[in-house]
Amino acid sequence: MSASLATVSYIGATILFILSLGGLSHPESSRRGNLYGIIGMTIAVLATVFGPQVTAGGYGWIIGAMVVGATIGLYAARVVKMTQMPELVALMHSLVGLAAVLVGYANYIDPAAAGQFAGAEKTIHEIEIYIGILIGAVTFSGSVIAFGKLSGKISGKPMLLPGRHIINLVGLLVVIWFGWSFINTHSVADGMTPLIVMTLIALLFGIHMVMAIGGADMPVVVSMLNSYSGWAAAATGFMLSNDLLIVTGALVGSSGAILSYIMCRAMNRHFIAVIAGGFGTEGGTPAAAGGVQPAGEVVAISAPETAELLNDSKNVIIVPGYGMAVAQAQHTVYEITRFLRGKGVNVRFGIHPVAGRMPGHMNVLLAEAKVPYDIVLEMDELNEDFPSTDVAMVIGANDIVNPGAQDDPASPIAGMPVLEVWKAKTSIVMKRSMASGYAGVDNPLFYKDNNRMLFGDAKKMLDEVLAALKS
Ligand code: TAP
Repeated sequence: MSASLATVSYIGATILFILSLGGLSHPESSRRGNLYGIIGMTIAVLATVFGPQVTAGGYGWIIGAMVVGATIGLYAARVVKMTQMPELVALMHSLVGLAAVLVGYANYIDPAAAGQFAGAEKTIHEIEIYIGILIGAVTFSGSVIAFGKLSGKISGKPMLLPGRHIINLVGLLVVIWFGWSFINTHSVADGMTPLIVMTLIALLFGIHMVMAIGGADMPVVVSMLNSYSGWAAAATGFMLSNDLLIVTGALVGSSGAILSYIMCRAMNRHFIAVIAGGFGTEGGTPAAAGGVQPAGEVVAISAPETAELLNDSKNVIIVPGYGMAVAQAQHTVYEITRFLRGKGVNVRFGIHPVAGRMPGHMNVLLAEAKVPYDIVLEMDELNEDFPSTDVAMVIGANDIVNPGAQDDPASPIAGMPVLEVWKAKTSIVMKRSMASGYAGVDNPLFYKDNNRMLFGDAKKMLDEVLAALKS
């Protein structure tokens, strides 16, 4: 393939990637967005493999690597459950980081690459290598720790070393110092020492940074690492003089940064405060984390009573959360919705931006169950409608419907916007026990007079509600 054809292909792939991102911004167009992404990536891979930079001798290696990569990818796509997606994504980011580190070292050692540059160009090339390896190493070790935390292999509790900010600052200064000595060395052998020291510091920094971040902030961390992996890819693009990799890396880097910002806003947290760490617990058990402890009685309700309440309603809002994903209850939710809509009940879904364990988690599940998009609304679109709602049905959600976020300034989730389900005539919370959610805080909603608890696995209870509705 000629160089100009490769360039044209790269431009085509870039346009498809931008269209893909645009498509992914809405559930209705997300399939099309995915398709654009697949076509763009296919063109990018073909144009690179058959492009002018690959010599005939390299094909064996490339095909071998592609077969191994595609086999692992296919296997992972088939066996990984929806609830394990965040940890898979974290693992994939670690590979991008590792690739940037390896490409950086290979590029530095390669005499052909080094021989291309002299004077200022050589310095710029070395800075590219240094920064590429730095971002890659932080992304690699940070993502491995994020994978460990999300999969429960490492405790979700923030690990806070004394003087951790000072440690980070000293690490940064040492990295800058060694960067200076790296670009002032005259041989590859001399440059290796600062490069290796910097890589070790960057690896330790990645571990330290993510270890200090508590469970509830992990989604932001994954999205931040996504952004880092983009910048690592862009740095790799500079090292390899590959324009497409630079553009794609910048797209991933900036979209990850925007997503991190949106998520921080949804959780009412400052990005810097998230990175500084220290928030959240292991999750799962109620943490007596200061503030006023909820008091009062918890009133349980049965599935037939729930069905009766739903049957007598005109307006119903369903709020799904992580528990719906765990129970895989989305199909029964859809059946109930269809039944109630058939009887003229106005059923809508309220989606919190951080419901579940990854951005868009609930939208994906509801789309899979074929719930029409026009009744799936975002928190801001229907939060004002709860006072005119007969039943607000919370399915396996907890933190996202916690009134403590609004009323209790001492709550660890104080200030996080929440769905105001307690303002409905009746709210019904479906979960297995009184256990807390991801942020590890108790929920005063459960004790409110107009709240009922439907205890049990969401799928099992919803099956019973559906059966009662139909009978
Ligand atoms: P959570 O607050 O984690 O609450 C989920 C609830 O589901 C739990 O209290 C659990 O109670 C219940 N549950 C679990 N399995 C169930 C089952 N089989 N049947 C019925 N209920 C079940 O979830 P949420 O309300 O969706 O809020 C999300 C939280 O996760 C936020 O704190 C958010 O910051 C955090 N987070 C979000 C993301 C993203 S990007 N969405 C990623 C990571 C973390 P029982 O054990 O009593 O059943």
